[in-house]
Amino acid sequence: MSSKAPIGVFDSGVGGLTVAKEIIKQIPNEDIIYFGDTARVPYGNKSKDTIINYTRQIVRFLMSKDVKAIVIACNTASAFALDIIKNEIDIPIIGVVNPGAKVAVSTTRNGNVGIIGTQGTIDSNVYSKYIGKLDAKIKVYGRACPLLVPLIEENLLDDPVTKEMARRYTEELLVYNIDTLVLGCTHYPLIKDTISQVVGGEVSLINPAYETAKTIIEVLKENDLLNEFNKYNNHKFYVSDGSEKFKTFAKSILSCEVFETKTVDIEKY
Ligand code: DGL
Repeated sequence: MSSKAPIGVFDSGVGGLTVAKEIIKQIPNEDIIYFGDTARVPYGNKSKDTIINYTRQIVRFLMSKDVKAIVIACNTASAFALDIIKNEIDIPIIGVVNPGAKVAVSTTRNGNVGIIGTQGTIDSNVYSKYIGKLDAKIKVYGRACPLLVPLIEENLLDDPVTKEMARRYTEELLVYNIDTLVLGCTHYPLIKDTISQVVGGEVSLINPAYETAKTIIEVLKENDLLNEFNKYNNHKFYVSDGSEKFKTFAKSILSCEVFETKTVDIEKY
């Protein structure tokens, strides 16, 4: 595999762009192939088997584009599918949960950590497991926020309805005196300011994207796959539906050009 090959990044929709953005920032030489499963978003209320099936299709699609590594920029798919898919492919693949858990452990001072995420991520208890492995004394409190992803996909980032839902979802976590809150869904950093307003500035918000980008750098280095030379980026964006809407959204989030977004029939993979 050539170090000049792109990195595959995927999510159910626009959320993974928060991770792609951080990867582009930390390793600007790398090219990204992004896939957003906009026809089948949200993932958060779907079964484990369905998410594994979706993930397999997307991984096959990304591998057809000759990616050298894959970042699952989705907590739900990381929780349900990473351990399984890891054993099925021969290129490096990482998720966002382990990096997020690491930062939460190093950030909390009082040992009370809140997690907000999709129903699937919260029910899987994946954050408790990872955090527990790093520090068994830390208490983890989870809250599913099923309406936030649809609101964000509708670009209602600064809408009072989004703020009200964020307030309702997080208020019960504040009862546990959390000092750290993991944004356990890659869509949530898009409303980070709103979440910060409702939980208060004294609660540290963790966006796993930064640590995920650091992790993929380490993995590429270990495998001698870091691209040192690329001068002209050629990021490519694919979705399963609504490519124009996605393109407009992606342009508003990413600092790079989004020249073209193509629609893919992902069920064929
Ligand atoms: N952004 C994804 C996550 O991190 C999926 C959200 C969804 O589609 O429900 O979990």
